[in-house]
Amino acid sequence: MKKFTNESMQEILEYLQNILSTQKPEFIISFEVLNPDILNSAYAGEKTIIDNTEYIYRGYKSWSDLGEILFCKMLTPKINSASTVIISYQKLDISDSFHKSTLEQKEKYGTKSEFFEINKNEEPAFLAHYIKALKNVDVSSKKRVLNLGINSGDEFEVIKKLTSTSDKEFVGIDFCPSAIEVAKKRFEEENFIFYNHDINELDSLNLDKFDLIITIGTLQSSGLNFKVIFMSLIQNYLEMDGAIILGFPNCRWIDGEMIYGAKAPNYSFSEMTLLYKDVYFCKKYLQQKKFRVTITGKDYIFLTATSIRK
Ligand SMILES: C[S@@+](CC[C@H](N)C(=O)[O-])C[C@H]1O[C@@H](n2cnc3c(N)ncnc32)[C@H](O)[C@@H]1O
Repeated sequence: MKKFTNESMQEILEYLQNILSTQKPEFIISFEVLNPDILNSAYAGEKTIIDNTEYIYRGYKSWSDLGEILFCKMLTPKINSASTVIISYQKLDISDSFHKSTLEQKEKYGTKSEFFEINKNEEPAFLAHYIKALKNVDVSSKKRVLNLGINSGDEFEVIKKLTSTSDKEFVGIDFCPSAIEVAKKRFEEENFIFYNHDINELDSLNLDKFDLIITIGTLQSSGLNFKVIFMSLIQNYLEMDGAIILGFPNCRWIDGEMIYGAKAPNYSFSEMTLLYKDVYFCKKYLQQKKFRVTITGKDYIFLTATSIRK
């Protein structure tokens, strides 16, 4: 088995890329490295000598990042000797992604889709930032909450665990019939209302204004005019002292893993022009309308805006 001691990360990356490029999904590659537990408070790149051999230190965070960059799942490391461990990566099937779904548009995110197997609330890189955004807007003080592209309701589930919901009204909208059916069964309380409806025809629901609008991974969907809908939400659906949370995916879901980096049309690799452009458009617009805006997150970028226009 290959052993890395003082090779640079650049050499390791190239070595692994070369091997993985010729292999099929599920192929497992293993290699021996310095046990990260041996050093405390070390940064990647620190050198140490053990039994006359020079090693370069990297923590498990670095090995996990490398696995993600190589489109692999990192398997459980094994202790190999007093000072080394075996790292193993399993190659992902990059063709296995809901992004390639052939289901008809409205059911692309429905109960029969691959997307439905994803639970973002179990991914800390989503959940922690979403909770922070909810706390930033002081969700507990909001009485009417609207979610566009609610799917089966995961985003309401987090709010339910965070604060009392009996004194609030929740409205969720999605044009996917099967997902909305699941949401209705999940939240049977009277103050949770779900509409199987197209966001393009939001006005026909006569919803009035909300204290908080949440929309995650939805407004950039094909079939929606992002800027027009976004501006209409601020002008027509948000109370004067209201707040908004927009979530922009900066990841792809591949073969069970959440892989960092936005999926971009016309590129084979992750490219972020569209993401930055849309986030910046919203930020500028909201600042002009007298909102305090923050941008946070990683695999999902959260734009959180609170009104200062009283
Ligand atoms: C990528 S999913 C995001 C779902 C959920 N917010 C999440 O982040 O897991 C986009 C959702 O928006 C819904 N959607 C897309 N276009 C829509 C439209 N024009 N009207 C209503 N819902 C729409 C889809 O059915 C889907 O449930």
